[in-house]
Amino acid sequence: MLASLSSPGPTVANMLFDATQQLAPSLACPGLEARRLLAFVLGWPMTRLLAQDRHVVGEEELRRFFFLVDQRSHGVPLAHLTGAEGFWSLMLHVTPACLVPRPETECLVELALACPEATLQVADLGTGSGAIALAMATERPRWQITATDCSAGALAVAQENAHRLGITQIQWRLGDWCEPLLDEGILYDLLISNPPYLANDEVGPAFEPHGALYAGPEGTEALEAIIRQSRQVLRPGGRLLLEHGADQRPWILACLGAAGFRVIQVRDDGAGLPRAIMAQIT
Ligand SMILES: C[S@@+](CC[C@H](N)C(=O)[O-])C[C@H]1O[C@@H](n2cnc3c(N)ncnc32)[C@H](O)[C@@H]1O
Repeated sequence: MLASLSSPGPTVANMLFDATQQLAPSLACPGLEARRLLAFVLGWPMTRLLAQDRHVVGEEELRRFFFLVDQRSHGVPLAHLTGAEGFWSLMLHVTPACLVPRPETECLVELALACPEATLQVADLGTGSGAIALAMATERPRWQITATDCSAGALAVAQENAHRLGITQIQWRLGDWCEPLLDEGILYDLLISNPPYLANDEVGPAFEPHGALYAGPEGTEALEAIIRQSRQVLRPGGRLLLEHGADQRPWILACLGAAGFRVIQVRDDGAGLPRAIMAQIT
């Protein structure tokens, strides 16, 4: 829908109506996503869209909005289009170099924050946008946190997020899971990770990095590597907190037991699916 020279142009309400129709076949909440995109393009808070729904939108903003609506209707994540995603209490910058943080991962933060110690040595393995490390840092300024990732692109996004949020207590390390921690000669109280846990033949989200989603032929390869490596960097009695696939709980219980861990807690996600596990090294 383009404004002709003789008409005043489409209003906010017209544009939201058209975009909602366009997004409806592919999205569960087309109206909400249309509002988020239009608020982003106009630089308005979402509430202003309702208050000023007769506002006539300029041609450049109109074109930009419907370009984004078209991209969204082809599956590009909303967070990639707006460059931002909310996680915990934070608004994080995200790019196609990192996973878009998911709401179910917030249960890892909740479980970590239930640790009673005021000071802890903690590592977030495979930090992506920095979501878990940054959320913990915000809530526990006295925790010493290290975050690793094997993707330089993801680590750059995480560091940019830390800089923008003014968070300075996190050490960022490029490398394979726990390996960057080995050189430091520190033993950790708590290791946290949301690793890739899809099998290579599973159909997962498009548009996000393959290395953030797919672990290998079985789907359990990254979890297995972390469980194995973590023994070298955890202090006696230290804890390991992992997110995993909904069907992987029996496997992970067995793997942790065989590696000398005692399971302390399991957690389902908001949809009632098995999602996280906390274990202690014996
Ligand atoms: C599922 S994403 C999680 C990102 C972030 N922690 C979150 O929850 O939004 C997995 C992350 O692990 C990283 N990763 C994959 N293999 C890795 C490895 N061998 N060593 C370190 N990080 C790895 C990926 O680059 C990606 O950022």
